[in-house]
Amino acid sequence: MTTRPYIVGNWKMNGTRAMLSEARAIDRAAERLIKVEVAIAPPYTMIHATRKEATLISIGAQDCHPADGGAHTGDVSAAMVKDAGAGFTIVGHSERRADHGETNALVKQKAHAVIEAGMNVIVCVGETETERDAGKAHSVVSKQLKGSLPEGEGVADKVTVAYEPVWAIGTGRTPTAEDIAAMHEHIRSDLQTIYGEAGVDVRILYGGSVKPENAAELLSAKEVGGALVGGASLTAESFLGIIVAAT
Ligand code: G3P
Repeated sequence: MTTRPYIVGNWKMNGTRAMLSEARAIDRAAERLIKVEVAIAPPYTMIHATRKEATLISIGAQDCHPADGGAHTGDVSAAMVKDAGAGFTIVGHSERRADHGETNALVKQKAHAVIEAGMNVIVCVGETETERDAGKAHSVVSKQLKGSLPEGEGVADKVTVAYEPVWAIGTGRTPTAEDIAAMHEHIRSDLQTIYGEAGVDVRILYGGSVKPENAAELLSAKEVGGALVGGASLTAESFLGIIVAAT
């Protein structure tokens, strides 16, 4: 298992061909930053072009449908994103859970579809502000992990968990490094319960308002194996600032 920090840019619903120059610049710099594993998850429409433009970093998808194919107008299967050039897929992002009512059970089905298609999966979890204020952050995340993570022999090797507190996404607010460490240690313990010994090596990313200015501190927290970055991944300049901070 690699111990390099894993820095993943989630472009969300941003990106047309004009943004390929950012992907190219990230890719060229990433070649020199061999101490960090770098990835971008552009929108579906950009996966193929980004894969062609950025050949050194990993390219992934932000979601997929759990079914192999069929009558699901407007949806995209795991095999399709893989065919377009994705090597991994994010599932269970809080924006999908909130905007599309995605349940833990559906997220788990998607995670299995991603692995069956031959990709790695990033499973997102995280509490809302109300849940944190009520002292329920750890129990909420435990429930999400138990309900969303794929199960089965050899599956843990394909899984990365991203802890993204909902209240920290796009807000400029972050938990303290101590709070992040406490949650990541909690997640590690759950991973070992779910996967046994294999749970020790599953990477746990932090996501939520990661910027070049706070990346070094947030990434130094215990059990943080990298970052899932939204807004600050949209320009090569800011994303590279985070990548440099991770070295
Ligand atoms: O998946 C990344 C994410 O939700 C964090 O977004 O913009 O706060 O970095 P942002």
